Amino acid sequence: MSCPVVVPPPPETFAAVLEARRSRRRMRRAPLRQLINMLAYATAPRGRLEGDVFLRSRRPGPTAGAFHPIETVLVDWRGHPRVMRYDALSHRLELLAVSNVEPLRNFARACADMLPEAQGTALVFIGHEARVTAAYEDPASLLWRDSGALSQTLFLAATAFGLAFCPLDILGREVIQAIGLPRDAVATGAVLLGRQR
Ligand SMILES: Cc1cc2nc3c(=O)[nH]c(=O)nc-3n(C[C@H](O)[C@H](O)[C@H](O)COP(=O)(O)O)c2cc1C
Repeated sequence: MSCPVVVPPPPETFAAVLEARRSRRRMRRAPLRQLINMLAYATAPRGRLEGDVFLRSRRPGPTAGAFHPIETVLVDWRGHPRVMRYDALSHRLELLAVSNVEPLRNFARACADMLPEAQGTALVFIGHEARVTAAYEDPASLLWRDSGALSQTLFLAATAFGLAFCPLDILGREVIQAIGLPRDAVATGAVLLGRQR
């Protein structure tokens, strides 16, 4: 589905956002439109390389070679488990087919064990090594560094929107298994996101 027009965060100084950024482990679920609005604000392209076969773009976060090889996937498991991909290039949300629900249950359990007071939505970062291999000899480390840069950009954006955000020490491989992605997909991290409690 196509997503609504993005609403920027309330005006605030950069210093105030930077100082306010803290991992928040108590949260409630936030409406999907608020999460997508934050994701879009933080990751939608502000410029594109016209006619480029690699779809290189400029966004608020840095990325090696302007490739942006990390996809952001939202995982919600209360009620019916849902896995969604936010496509920053088209500003659309895709509902992905879950071919194996068991790994998602394991992922949900791991999140709940780590942050028992968080009822949030998970974001899982999935890197596509092939996109970076096209231009770099040593793509693996670039994916990890890109993932860290994306995580910090989202963390600051979530803070600016008053959302709760906490990185997790799991990678989110279970989500790749659940949606059956090809072998070049690499899970590079997961965070929980929600409304502050
Ligand atoms: C890669 C990474 C993994 C993390 N994993 C967890 C985690 O599993 N559980 C948790 O409660 N916090 C986790 N955190 C949050 C850190 O504990 C937190 O950033 C640190 O204590 C500093 O606190 P602050 O973010 O509030 O400044 C993680 C942070 C990063 C960057």
